[in-house]
Amino acid sequence: MPEREPAPATVALPPGAPTALTPLLTGRRSVKELTGDVLDLEEVAGLLRHAAGVDGAGHPTYASARSAHLVSVTLVAGAVAGLHPGSYQYQASRHLLRTEALGDQRPALAAATVDAHWVSGAPAVLVLTADIRAADARFAELGPGQGDRFAWLEAGLITQNAYLWAAAVGLGVAFIGGLDRAACAREAGSVLPAGHTVLGLLPVGNPAY
Ligand SMILES: Cc1cc2nc3c(=O)[nH]c(=O)nc-3n(C[C@H](O)[C@H](O)[C@H](O)COP(=O)(O)O)c2cc1C
Repeated sequence: MPEREPAPATVALPPGAPTALTPLLTGRRSVKELTGDVLDLEEVAGLLRHAAGVDGAGHPTYASARSAHLVSVTLVAGAVAGLHPGSYQYQASRHLLRTEALGDQRPALAAATVDAHWVSGAPAVLVLTADIRAADARFAELGPGQGDRFAWLEAGLITQNAYLWAAAVGLGVAFIGGLDRAACAREAGSVLPAGHTVLGLLPVGNPAY
């Protein structure tokens, strides 16, 4: 038998053929300087549908363990044409917004961040939340804390969808995960689904540069 060559310490990789996705993946950025320009409802609807919605056949744009869809998306609108400032629950299956509370909720969200107070000036903010206790109960037979993990992972998938869609249409988004849990409950508790934990914020607007 011929003697095997020793395995190299490193393997140089081919570049991988570019696809239509390549410019979106390489062009996506966390955009933290937004203009205060009013967003069209169309722009917000497109972002919601592609980040956390379903296609024409009702199939979601992101994977979810057992299709449980643990993450809820609340749109906090400040400057969106056709929407009163307030918070709205996104219902993906029907692609509609349910009004939850009126009034500008953005300062409350901004106050709950560790280092992103500029969020108060974003025209809109997507708030990703989950009922962690219910999620854990749903996956209890897999062991403790699995629903919790799945919810956070789901939030990551939704976030990357939002980044790619934003890159495609020229919107700015950034994931804000540094949150003060107590401040979230205190400041934003009244505008979010009962019993939910905030997983992260996605402020959205037009890039300032
Ligand atoms: C899990 C996670 C949490 C983050 N939390 C914050 C945050 O609290 N505040 C903030 O300004 N940016 C936050 N970011 C954004 C990162 O700082 C940003 O992704 C980083 O600057 C790299 O920029 P890029 O996405 O353009 O590559 C977070 C990003 C991730 C993925």
